[in-house]
Amino acid sequence: MDYFKKTKIAHILKENDKARDSVIVMGWIRTRRDSSNLAFLEINDGSSLANLQIVLENPENFADLERAKLGASVHLEGPLVPVPERKHKIEMHPISLTVVGDCPPEYPLQKKRHSFEYLREIAHLRPRTNTFGVISRFRSKISYAVHKFFQDRGFYYVHSPVITGTDAEGAGDMFRVTTLDLYKLPFVDKNIDFDKDFFASESFLTVTGQLEAELMATALGDVYTFAPTFRAENSNTSRHLSEFWMVEPEMAFCDLFENMQLAGEFLKYLFRYALDECAEEMSFFNQWINKDRIKTLESVINTDFIQCPYTDAVEILKKAKKKFVFPVDWGVDLQSEHERFLCEEHFKAPVMVYDYPRQIKAFYMRVNDDGKTVGALDVLVPQIGEIIGGSQREERLDLLKDQVEYFNIDEKTVDWYYDIRRYGTVPHAGFGLGFARVLMYMSGMSNIRDVIPFPRAPRSAKF
Ligand code: 4AD
Ligand code: MG
Repeated sequence: MDYFKKTKIAHILKENDKARDSVIVMGWIRTRRDSSNLAFLEINDGSSLANLQIVLENPENFADLERAKLGASVHLEGPLVPVPERKHKIEMHPISLTVVGDCPPEYPLQKKRHSFEYLREIAHLRPRTNTFGVISRFRSKISYAVHKFFQDRGFYYVHSPVITGTDAEGAGDMFRVTTLDLYKLPFVDKNIDFDKDFFASESFLTVTGQLEAELMATALGDVYTFAPTFRAENSNTSRHLSEFWMVEPEMAFCDLFENMQLAGEFLKYLFRYALDECAEEMSFFNQWINKDRIKTLESVINTDFIQCPYTDAVEILKKAKKKFVFPVDWGVDLQSEHERFLCEEHFKAPVMVYDYPRQIKAFYMRVNDDGKTVGALDVLVPQIGEIIGGSQREERLDLLKDQVEYFNIDEKTVDWYYDIRRYGTVPHAGFGLGFARVLMYMSGMSNIRDVIPFPRAPRSAKF
């Protein structure tokens, strides 16, 4: 199939002033136009947004031309001809055209623009559209930037398990993992006998890799995970997925303020990377998705993040002239309307809110000296709200045990987690970046399902 001989269209377009005697190109037909003695095709091979212009002289010489329909896959061979006076700068004048796979006229991706909602229903075909091609390449490049940021700073990438027995976040929205026959459940007394289950205990898909990352950090120093996590929250919003990728750095010998500093540097690094290394994607987003994306990312890169204790944030919200659906008072969790008010209307910039009330955050967070708040951190951005959640962890065994009791957690499920406090404990901290949320922010896409190739959401796990 000439796999190793093919030239990628992205490469041809980059060197668009270079004539070549013969190259091999393989891809899918995006458009076709016929005139009396010429046929024009535009081919896309997935390597770039732009198509390669193909000009077939003497169409009657190409036996396969009849089958060269919209969506068909083709193998082309021939010279590249620079055309500096034309917009597309270079074109191919093939000597051979072979249709590899035919495409019937009912191909769902016709030339007209489709709505994102419709494309979600054909998520298996949407990467072939301009927008989802751009998003897919962008997601790949920003994944690389995540690794580069941490690896360049001496962090080790650790693989956290997908199956777990602990509800680390305490939100109780986990998917169960079992091999028990649901029609013939084993019981002891009136309870299901999980001893008969595969792992001899209740097991779930993880909501976070953090607890295991903590164990690894207290051996390797600085680590990060980048893995899928799962939440069975029944929230059908434009910002929630049931399966989403999270980046979770964890640092030993680190406190909340150092953690906040790293979170800020990390976000700025990703934005800088996008502007410098993903020019094609960013200019597409700026033109078609959200007109101020480049300006917004540049302005975040050039300003310090605002840091605001939760208690101050509540005061700001209570004084606000705006009517909120959910009333605010010290002790309640901030709703998305409050988060958005803080960054969109009050600060008009991303903001880091920290030191939240103990009762609304997870058990592992470090209790502050006031006994009422914990060293928690949320990074909020306009349009989306929370993109990062993190904290300093409770490293003092007795206080961690108090937390476990306070939140009514079964000690048996966290005894292993106590061990790092038993043996050479250290202050440590980390955070979790929702990868899809940051992609939404950078691209300006308004629905989280449109920045992941195969979204999982309530009542939807097709493809
Ligand atoms: O705030 P969360 O729940 O924090 C944790 O899971 C910590 N264990 C992280 C840590 O300290 N290592 O989630 C972290 C981030 C959120 O800020 C949000 O960006 C994203 O994960 N997130 C979701 N993204 C998509 N769909 C959902 N259902 C999400 N839930 C959280
Ligand atoms: Mg959170």
